[in-house]
Amino acid sequence: MFSTAFLDLPPLQGASGTVTLPGSKSISNRVLLLSALCQGTTVVHDLLDSDDTRVMLAALRQLGCGVDVAGTTVTITGLGGRAWPTEAIEFFMGNAGTAMRPLTAALAVQGGDFTLKGVPRMHERPIGDLVDALRELGCTIDYLGNEGYPPLRVHQPQLQLDKPIPVRGDVSSQFLTALLMALPLAATDRAITIEVIGELISKPYIEITLNLLARYGIAVERHDWERFVIPAGSRYQSPGRIHVEADASSASYFIALGAIAQGDGIRIQGVGADSIQGDIRFMDAAAQMGANITSGPNWLEIQRGTWPLKGITLDCNHIPDAAMTLAVMALYADGPTTLRNIASWRVKETDRIAAMATESRKLGATVEEGPDWITIHPLPAGKWQRTSIHTYDDHRVAMCFSLTAFNTDQVPVRIEDPQCVAKTFPDYFEVLFLVAHTAAPNIPVICIDGPTASGKGTLASRVAEQLGYHYLDSGALYRVTAHAALLAGLTLDTADEAAIAELARSLPVRFEGEQVLLGKVDVTDAIRSEQGGMNASKVSLLPTVRMALVDLQHSFQRLPGLLADGRDMGTVIFPNAPLKVFLTASAAQRAERRHKQLILKGFSANIDSLRADLEARDARDMSRSVAPLKPAQDALQLDNSSLTIEASVEQVMVWWQSRQVFG
Ligand code: DC
Repeated sequence: MFSTAFLDLPPLQGASGTVTLPGSKSISNRVLLLSALCQGTTVVHDLLDSDDTRVMLAALRQLGCGVDVAGTTVTITGLGGRAWPTEAIEFFMGNAGTAMRPLTAALAVQGGDFTLKGVPRMHERPIGDLVDALRELGCTIDYLGNEGYPPLRVHQPQLQLDKPIPVRGDVSSQFLTALLMALPLAATDRAITIEVIGELISKPYIEITLNLLARYGIAVERHDWERFVIPAGSRYQSPGRIHVEADASSASYFIALGAIAQGDGIRIQGVGADSIQGDIRFMDAAAQMGANITSGPNWLEIQRGTWPLKGITLDCNHIPDAAMTLAVMALYADGPTTLRNIASWRVKETDRIAAMATESRKLGATVEEGPDWITIHPLPAGKWQRTSIHTYDDHRVAMCFSLTAFNTDQVPVRIEDPQCVAKTFPDYFEVLFLVAHTAAPNIPVICIDGPTASGKGTLASRVAEQLGYHYLDSGALYRVTAHAALLAGLTLDTADEAAIAELARSLPVRFEGEQVLLGKVDVTDAIRSEQGGMNASKVSLLPTVRMALVDLQHSFQRLPGLLADGRDMGTVIFPNAPLKVFLTASAAQRAERRHKQLILKGFSANIDSLRADLEARDARDMSRSVAPLKPAQDALQLDNSSLTIEASVEQVMVWWQSRQVFG
């Protein structure tokens, strides 16, 4: 997951390959609650791991459910047949609507002393219609803040189930879903009828609810979309085990990707055209705009078809979440696209109509909006603006706008707060970078070099962390090469130069965090020793070995960018890097730092001799004939003798930002 303040997407040129998507958010949280309401144990496979499901799991644990998480398989031991908690419990629901609504209903019907709170945005999302319906049936619920909004407090109900329970259907279908999942708890000896007031929106989500209720033994009778009857004698029964489909709304970004990007097409695993999720119908809308889509059981394949895409006018009531993706596809169309009947966008994670309009305009697009519609005009070549996309703590805004990096003008796009995708798809950007490609010159490289013990490694890895970029410690490659050569019984000089180069060409080296692996062996400590450094220095003097490591070093230049640390990064390996930093510090300072390090590690050391060693090594490094230590001509010098590491990182970030201006 990218937990950086922002993520800069370089211009992307194409995409091909297979993606496996996380489980559906809607199915995951319903299945968790239904399993909790059953008697006995349910094994849930392919559960989504996200903010929303964590909120639900935490709440279920608080209620006393058995929750056993093993990767994406979660075993729930339900509350059915057991005593509900009588003590006061306070639940924190974050911004998870799919947890807040159904849990409120289940708790209110069951009764107790429960408080439900969330983040400030949750306290702005309406829940009054659900509370009204629950009060109608005898539940006791108080508003702790504003009337009609969370936080809420729930007490013991006095259920009155003989008359139909009215619920509004035109604000959020989650209210009806919440009632449908809660009322079977009360339908043991009588049928319960729910009546929908107003036009029911987002019917496909109700279909998911009904489908899953059936899997848990509750056969709801549906009379059009107006009356729902939960039969007398309903009782939750665990299906034993259940699989969660991949998220069809998450699939929309990769369906759009296949339609927009040049390449051999995108294959999506985990969800197919026969999905129970309404958002799967996004594929029809994408096809209407020009995508070529084929499907089988649990898979989809998408290829670019008509290009540019075709502008469309569409009632999006049936695909409210996925429809946001159409708004971004619209930028690549031949005429305007109008998405209608999307009033629910206004009350989601953010006001999504306003968000999509504002951010599209920043990119240069013309957009019109109304209370429940939006029209987006295509963005022709030459008109794309370099901009920083604000994401409003809304995962879908972030994922949608990542697709603008395929713009014809090859302008990069900055996505603010990229970790907001964690709500439904924590690895979204990683998966995108797996299939997206672009020409190497588009992938930014920052080179950092400097004399030994200048702190370049720490600086480079910290900057990489702040930007979400990959990190290449080229010195480690020479260290590992020397280590492997010694293991193979070679001598580290010209006599074995060809053999060492051969080894280096197919070096099975892997970096995992701080660890360096050679094959399956952890060689971190072995190569980080003083001796390891001296051995590296010897092999680094062999020109054929240096040549043999070039391809390996180039292979680190991957999306979204690279921090390259080492001797010839800016001069030989990445001569066109847009930013090169030469980090220096006085010999006295470096000796002092090294001294501190050694003492901390429990070694004895003498500052004066350390300093003499460093000066001798500087002299050797600067005068050696092969890859001497010298700043690239266009490198910026940074003397960090009197700077903290934070200040040095800040300086490099300032230089980088001044070259990467996002309006
Ligand atoms: O940065 P370091 O101490 O891990 O580097 C080990 C040795 O390898 C050092 O003598 C410099 C040399 N080296 C090199 O010649 N070229 C590089 N790109 C990186 C390191």
